Amino acid sequence: MSDGLDGLLDGQLAYYRARAPEYDEVYDERGFSSLTNLVDELPIGGDVLELACGTGQWTVRLAPRAAQLTAVDGAPEMLDIAQRRLEAAGLTATFRQEDLFAWRPQARYDTVFFAFWLSHVPPQRFAAFWAAVAAAVRPGGRVVFVDTDAAERRTERAAPGGRETVLRRLKDGSEHEVVKLFHDAAGLAGQLGKLGWTAQVDPADGGFIRGVATLTDRSARD
Ligand SMILES: C[S@@+](CC[C@H](N)C(=O)[O-])C[C@H]1O[C@@H](n2cnc3c(N)ncnc32)[C@H](O)[C@@H]1O
Repeated sequence: MSDGLDGLLDGQLAYYRARAPEYDEVYDERGFSSLTNLVDELPIGGDVLELACGTGQWTVRLAPRAAQLTAVDGAPEMLDIAQRRLEAAGLTATFRQEDLFAWRPQARYDTVFFAFWLSHVPPQRFAAFWAAVAAAVRPGGRVVFVDTDAAERRTERAAPGGRETVLRRLKDGSEHEVVKLFHDAAGLAGQLGKLGWTAQVDPADGGFIRGVATLTDRSARD
């Protein structure tokens, strides 16, 4: 794409590849582990596709709810950890490495799920991402997502340059610029409405949002 963001997005993926061995610490430090209990309250079922699965913190909760589960991520280091987590729990999923900014779905699913991914999709790629998601949803299917809310901005350091990016530091001292949007529930539902989705986005306890979206007029797209 000629929006000048390829370098930033390549850097973002490189950051997560490097972060994979230390990624789970955020779940321990910030009590995110109990957040994955949200899965039990969300409408997840049938054939499930998880995007940006990371180390499998959500994958392991989705697997028992899914007829079949496919989990994708761009970082092989993340996929390795996720696969081991599933195996240790005696669960199965199909793992696939994909760049979600180039991804064209080859199949359709009843549920498409992503946690802490949408906030890393820059505004310029938002519509294209949701168009790809639409092509992955079966008639009657839904998209379910969880992310940080707008108040989380205070926990991050804005990167200079006026882009919607933040600076993150890894244990080795390296600094990385990462896209981070702080969506608020009402604004996000409105944005999705303009793209042809009917979305219910609500605050969830602890500085998070949870959303469920269905295509408003499926026949216009198929
Ligand atoms: C904030 S983590 C979320 C991981 C997991 N969903 C969770 O909630 O713990 C973002 C994930 O996006 C993945 N990612 C970053 N850029 C990507 C890209 N271009 N394509 C696919 N995955 C990407 C990273 O490897 C990382 O696993």
